[in-house]
Amino acid sequence: MKTFWICFLFAAVVICAGEPENQLPCDLRETIHGSVCVCNSTYCDYLEQPELTDSSQIVLISSSKDGLRFKKTTGNLSDGTPITVDDKQFTDENFNAEAIVVDQYKAWLQLANIPQRLFINASTSTVRISVKRDVQFQNVTIFGGALTGSVSHLLNLLPEELQDHVYKSYYHQDGIAYSTVRMSIGGCDFDLEPWAYNEWPRNDLKLSNFTELDPRDLLKIEQLNRLKAVGELDELKIMAAAWSAPRWMKTNDNWTGFGQLKSEYYQIWALYHLKFLELMRAKNMPIWAISTGNEPLNGVIGIFFVHFMSMGWTPWQQAIWLNDNLGPTIRNSAESKVLIFGNDDQRYTFPLWFRKMRSARNNSLSYLDGLAVHWYWDDLFFPQLIDQAHSELPDKMILNTESCIGDKPWQTNGPVLGSWQRGESYMRAYTQDFRHSFNGWVDWNLVLDEQGGPNYVKNYVDAPIIVNATSRIEIYKQPIFYAIGHFSKFVPPQSVRIEAKIENLANPFTPLSVVGFLRPDGNVALIIYNGQNVPVDVALSDSQRGAINLRLPPRSWHTVLYK
Ligand SMILES: *[C@@H]1O[C@H](CO)[C@@H](O)[C@H](O)[C@H]1NC(C)=O
Ligand SMILES: *[C@@H]1O[C@H](CO)[C@@H](O)[C@H](O)[C@H]1NC(C)=O
Ligand SMILES: *[C@@H]1O[C@H](CO)[C@@H](O)[C@H](O)[C@H]1NC(C)=O
Ligand SMILES: *[C@@H]1O[C@H](CO)[C@@H](O)[C@H](O)[C@H]1NC(C)=O
Ligand SMILES: *[C@@H]1O[C@H](CO)[C@@H](O)[C@H](O)[C@H]1NC(C)=O
Ligand SMILES: *[C@@H]1O[C@H](CO)[C@@H](O)[C@H](O)[C@H]1NC(C)=O
Ligand SMILES: *[C@@H]1O[C@H](CO)[C@@H](O)[C@H](O)[C@H]1NC(C)=O
Ligand SMILES: *[C@@H]1O[C@H](CO)[C@@H](O)[C@H](O)[C@H]1NC(C)=O
Repeated sequence: MKTFWICFLFAAVVICAGEPENQLPCDLRETIHGSVCVCNSTYCDYLEQPELTDSSQIVLISSSKDGLRFKKTTGNLSDGTPITVDDKQFTDENFNAEAIVVDQYKAWLQLANIPQRLFINASTSTVRISVKRDVQFQNVTIFGGALTGSVSHLLNLLPEELQDHVYKSYYHQDGIAYSTVRMSIGGCDFDLEPWAYNEWPRNDLKLSNFTELDPRDLLKIEQLNRLKAVGELDELKIMAAAWSAPRWMKTNDNWTGFGQLKSEYYQIWALYHLKFLELMRAKNMPIWAISTGNEPLNGVIGIFFVHFMSMGWTPWQQAIWLNDNLGPTIRNSAESKVLIFGNDDQRYTFPLWFRKMRSARNNSLSYLDGLAVHWYWDDLFFPQLIDQAHSELPDKMILNTESCIGDKPWQTNGPVLGSWQRGESYMRAYTQDFRHSFNGWVDWNLVLDEQGGPNYVKNYVDAPIIVNATSRIEIYKQPIFYAIGHFSKFVPPQSVRIEAKIENLANPFTPLSVVGFLRPDGNVALIIYNGQNVPVDVALSDSQRGAINLRLPPRSWHTVLYK
């Protein structure tokens, strides 16, 4: 009898609801640290892009520590009823019986690992969020991740169907709709060994052995072609950066340590970049942008803790190379449209790096289309450094070009499967950067193995998707994947940030935030984060739509869409 009713209800939903969008829900698996979404060759979670049918509709996409992943809630703006996102916690039968009242600001409770259901909602507060869509800021256009040597190697271990799920999950509209990929010119820290083009012969001013792409890059091209097909992408934006020149071009003749490009090779190193651009274009995989080199300070001041391939530059040296060699070489070539990004290093180098460049070559910055920054020390250095750089160089795009967690000695090195906290770190970082002029964000490795590698320096970190390299039949989508996806999927290219702010934040450390965008289709997308262990009531006030009331569960984030 029961079975009958379930079938009947199921049929009724399928026939009557007629929803245009489809969702394959997350196959949630609990781990000791939280939960992940499991994909195998035959199953992976996807969500079709929500379409707003009319101006009374509001759609919330929600993810939470308790296990929501891109859960869709639809409401009606015209009938005035608050829209509640249901989470497991609200239906927990023991909720009232075992509940204790807690102070939501007592952060130590989060550390003590007390089960969520012990928290009572007695301290639910109401936050007022105001949205003004005619107050507009920067465009947000770029989202992506990196196809490193390690990523390429791991993808190649997986059955084709599972590789396709990685591509589709990241690049398809039903996935998180990335448009951009970063790759290295030669090797990087996430490779199986350090390498560069034309390592042999040495002192070869003609780069006579750099006439075709390395088999490792040919494999990446094969994978990128598949990624474009599976992702149904018209255009894939590829960013490329070199970590190091071949050893013979460097002062220390070594991949790592204190070493710089010998000045007699400045022009050769510019031609080396041009050669890579030409060979990639010849394979129908043109490069959209390059940078002046990955993390230039690693080979100057980072030599005690950086053991992977890198090449040092001071801003003065780099200004000379960019102004006298790289800039003119690219701009006077058939690759003149390729964008050039500067710095590609940590936030603490802003804005000083560019001032110093200008002091060495006053025209050098005119070769730069954008400023690239890595997020690793953002907790210690405020975003005002970015604001200063932006006010001094207002026409340059600003991209975050690298991010991952687990690189610090005090962090777990490698993946923490299911960690909601790591997802929250991403959520806070993306929110902060988009509130400070960033035009996009490119994350680091698309996938890593259970250990957080492989790579030749045993530098193990986390990634949004972890591959089971032992069984090779499963991959795990981390909370980080959904943190990024709440932006990349619902903030399509040519979206513009608009004013959205919390009016009554009692304490600046309260883990609540909002950032808003106006999309090219005219819809508003708000990303709201509740990091508290209690639900929150949101009284939203939109300059064109009036009041909207939402109730959001504890430890959750949401993309709110309306016309
Ligand atoms: C793949 O995952 C789905 C959903 O969990 C499951 O039903 C199916 O049995 C799995 N396939 C294999 C081969 O394990
Ligand atoms: C929303 O509510 C209004 C007023 O109750 C009603 O006229 C309208 O049809 C509803 N819209 C949807 C999409 O249900
Ligand atoms: C607390 O949550 C319960 C269960 O959802 C609900 O019935 C009650 O109204 C909530 N109380 C407050 C003060 O929000
Ligand atoms: C050219 O490079 C390849 C790959 O590194 C190497 O095997 C070969 O010896 C090089 N050729 C010469 C002439 O050095
Ligand atoms: C390269 O540098 C590393 C680290 O400084 C050092 O251990 C190694 O001996 C150097 N190799 C050569 C060939 O000089
Ligand atoms: C830039 O530097 C050059 C050479 O040092 C100098 O001739 C020129 O006047 C400077 N231009 C500006 C705008 O300062
Ligand atoms: C986005 O903003 C950047 C930085 O201001 C600018 O360079 C770029 O042209 C803009 N892109 C579009 C498509 O408007
Ligand atoms: C990887 O798969 C193997 C075999 O199914 C399993 O024993 C192992 O627990 C999996 N690893 C993770 C991290 O889930």
